[in-house]
Amino acid sequence: MFTCERVLVFILFITSACWTEQVREIECSRATQTVCHCNSHDAVVRFNAAPSKGYEKDVGSKTTIRIMNSQILANPKHNFSTSSLYKDITLVAWDPAPYNIDLHKWYQQPDYDLFTPYITHRKNFPEQPFYILHPSFIWKLWDIVQSNTKDNIQPNPPSSGFIGIVMMMNFCEEVHVYEYIPSMRQSKLCHYHEKYNDAACTFGAYHPLLYEKLLIKRMSTASEEDIKKKGKVTLPGFSKINCLL
Ligand SMILES: *[C@@H]1O[C@H](CO)[C@@H](O)[C@H](O)[C@H]1NC(C)=O
Repeated sequence: MFTCERVLVFILFITSACWTEQVREIECSRATQTVCHCNSHDAVVRFNAAPSKGYEKDVGSKTTIRIMNSQILANPKHNFSTSSLYKDITLVAWDPAPYNIDLHKWYQQPDYDLFTPYITHRKNFPEQPFYILHPSFIWKLWDIVQSNTKDNIQPNPPSSGFIGIVMMMNFCEEVHVYEYIPSMRQSKLCHYHEKYNDAACTFGAYHPLLYEKLLIKRMSTASEEDIKKKGKVTLPGFSKINCLL
């Protein structure tokens, strides 16, 4: 049997002090328009149960990393242990532990039981990279969203989208995000792969989505036209930003 410490794989995370500087730095670099044409799309991150099969024309076919909330692992309707969506890629799972995280308590009582399917999957596919995000990373992101607005945001964790964007800013020199900031194609549709309408999916109810999106838009170096036509924002990776200024 695994102990709590052995099950958790901690991903590197940034400090909020550094982020504050980064936001400023990004705003400076936007003025000078230094655009770095790196090998674009070395990695593609997808979210929760979003498929590419059947939607390739719009979303491409490559998947490198899938970031999932704990419901994807815990709810049998997602077929986590058998679905090809979760095979042959890097997986990152998260669960909204309480703000004042006690890892042992969380392990005993996560919001949705992600640890049991995690352990089973690790045993079945020991070679597959599969991480659980440290909850303090999630709440640090929440603190950053809160510290960038005068409003009191809801005390719920940021969305998988926001978590994934910041995670990729850790790994990549440049991050492109599509339709997180809605383009002129904006609709009430929640997900491109489901016929389910609810404007809260775009602007938030449980997650502080509106505030996450304003922050991402503020950091973006993409043109207004890119946002309007493609819903595309461009973000520099943290390695491209000098935090020490
Ligand atoms: C899960 O598996 C069942 C049984 O094979 C199938 O009917 C269902 O469509 C699958 N659901 C998903 C989301 O893959």
